[in-house]
Amino acid sequence: MPDGKSFSPSPEFASQAIAKPEIYAAAKSDRLAFWAEQARALHWAKPFTEILDWSHAPVARWFDDGELNVSYNCLDRHVIAGHGDRIALYFEGEPGDRREISYAELTREVKKCANVLTRLGVGKGDRVAIYLPMIPEAVITMLAVARLGAIHSVVFGGFSADALATRINDADVRVVVTADGGYRKGKASALKPAVDEALANDRCPTVEQVLVVKRTGEDVVWNDQDHWWHDEMAKASDEHEAQAFPSEQELFILYTSGTTGAPKGILHTSGGYLTQAAYTHKNIFDLHPETDVYWCTADVGWITGHSYVVYGPLANGASQVIYEGTPDAPHPGRWWEIIERYKVSIFYTAPTAIRSFMKLGREIPDKFDLSSLRVLGSVGEPINPEAWLWYRSAIGGDKCPVVDTWWQTETGAIMVSPLPGITSLKPGSAQTPVPGIEIKIVNEEGEEVPRGEAGLLTITEPWPSMLRGIWRNPGRFHEAYWSRFEGQYFAGDGAKFDDDGDIWLLGRVDDVMNVSGHRLSTAEIESSLVGHPWVAEAAVVGASDEITGQAVVAFVILRLDQVEAAGEAENISKILREQVSKDIGPIARPRQIMVVAELPKTRSGKIMRRLLRDVAEGRPVGDVTTLADTSVMSVISAKLADGASD
Ligand code: WT7
Repeated sequence: MPDGKSFSPSPEFASQAIAKPEIYAAAKSDRLAFWAEQARALHWAKPFTEILDWSHAPVARWFDDGELNVSYNCLDRHVIAGHGDRIALYFEGEPGDRREISYAELTREVKKCANVLTRLGVGKGDRVAIYLPMIPEAVITMLAVARLGAIHSVVFGGFSADALATRINDADVRVVVTADGGYRKGKASALKPAVDEALANDRCPTVEQVLVVKRTGEDVVWNDQDHWWHDEMAKASDEHEAQAFPSEQELFILYTSGTTGAPKGILHTSGGYLTQAAYTHKNIFDLHPETDVYWCTADVGWITGHSYVVYGPLANGASQVIYEGTPDAPHPGRWWEIIERYKVSIFYTAPTAIRSFMKLGREIPDKFDLSSLRVLGSVGEPINPEAWLWYRSAIGGDKCPVVDTWWQTETGAIMVSPLPGITSLKPGSAQTPVPGIEIKIVNEEGEEVPRGEAGLLTITEPWPSMLRGIWRNPGRFHEAYWSRFEGQYFAGDGAKFDDDGDIWLLGRVDDVMNVSGHRLSTAEIESSLVGHPWVAEAAVVGASDEITGQAVVAFVILRLDQVEAAGEAENISKILREQVSKDIGPIARPRQIMVVAELPKTRSGKIMRRLLRDVAEGRPVGDVTTLADTSVMSVISAKLADGASD
């Protein structure tokens, strides 16, 4: 914070906090012993004796000789410990329907679902795609897949049929679990048609069965391989003994955007992942499972939903809210109404949401009783100090600590964050590596940069929830994360230490954009655009946006003959935006399409996105001396000033 303002934990908070200041010293003095201690908080059917095997670096093996069942850890053991009546999920549907599901009931449902999946042919190591709205069945299916030692690949319901098909085929998925639809923005929104389209014409030949949850009751087309969830669940036994699997048993694949090409299937395994998800969830959110009500607003389609809706909270026996819909349906105070209704005490959301509420004004949250809140979290992109301060004040009643948590799909769990009962909080900074995590900020040569200077964030020691690879692509795993600096994980983020040694994240340094906390690849959107017959060349940039952090802006060179032949020159922008929506999903749809005659390229033919970003953000164009043709930018700027864009 420029003015040096910081917020120390109150003595009451500090004295009750789960994490005590000694935690940092404990982790420093023997990092591996520290992680082993965290892992022992889980139930191991066969206790581990080995902590870390790094001999096949960069593929780590954690707790390798131990055996556990992830689903048992999230369910059965809480019931056995006498907490079966505790509410695991307070589900709130967008139309206002509600369901309270205790740990005992959730355990039964997951056991039934495991039996259903077994009957549909799912066994250890098989891949199951989950394409569902944010309803309890999504959580149940994930845990049922985990229970069988199978591998889930959750595909966000906002992704298109094409995106779903790509992910299904990359992982040779055997069974797809979906729903007729879900509710969004006050309406039923169909999902099953996208699955039908993805599977049509034998496009996904490995898929044998489709399990369909009835959520909206809208008509659906029925195919031979389809089964209704309710029919199958009604027939299934609610007894299912969880078998123990090795610690390194694959747990899930989650696709995320990289700098180039198709999305990467990030692979996570069991023991280490669950250890770090549970440990960070407990310590960073200061979870007291007997009394807290936790709510993370992320969809299970993203890593935040995996680690901080499903695995972390349930491993810790938390009671949590899950909400199906959008924050503004049917009214802009919906989230605050939910916090009031369930007396939510820990709340975890993204800066983009905070900024849009900020814009609407604090009169809206002021109408609700938010006094139950005691910890607030932020994730997905850097949170600007102004939004941080608003969050603490308007939502947190000037008393709640705000923890800004930095991590990635690849890291599996939080890596940099304050601890709310220990750290003096600085608005806008993620501050400190989590105990057990080693971070460095280096220059291009891999040398540590002095405090105050921007550099690249690297992780220098293996951590339990680290990705174990990219599904079926070890070469890309190595190239994307481990090739830039010898023996260190390169995250793709810029960062600096301030004078106090606190970490500030400065955004991506590669061609990955962050729109509303969602990761998008410029290359993927460009390839969608050039897939259209009208587009000769395309360049995409993330331009800064007041609400969404970044927004997608595309520059295209058209094939004018094709556009003329189609006779739809006036609809170019709309049609190209639709193309991206169809190929990837509405989240990737460009905010703006700028038609240009040329693109700025270096002499080696690389597009200079920096210059395009200047144009997209309305700034004077920066240094053009490395361009092959230095006049290009003035042509582009002049043409755009003429109103030739969009
Ligand atoms: C990228 C990872 C981690 C779950 C959600 C996103 C950015 C994430 C922060 C933060 C600054 C952040 C980074 C990172 N990011 N959290 N607190 N401060 N930047 O997961 O889709 O894998 O994206 O999100 O750029 O590399 P993801």
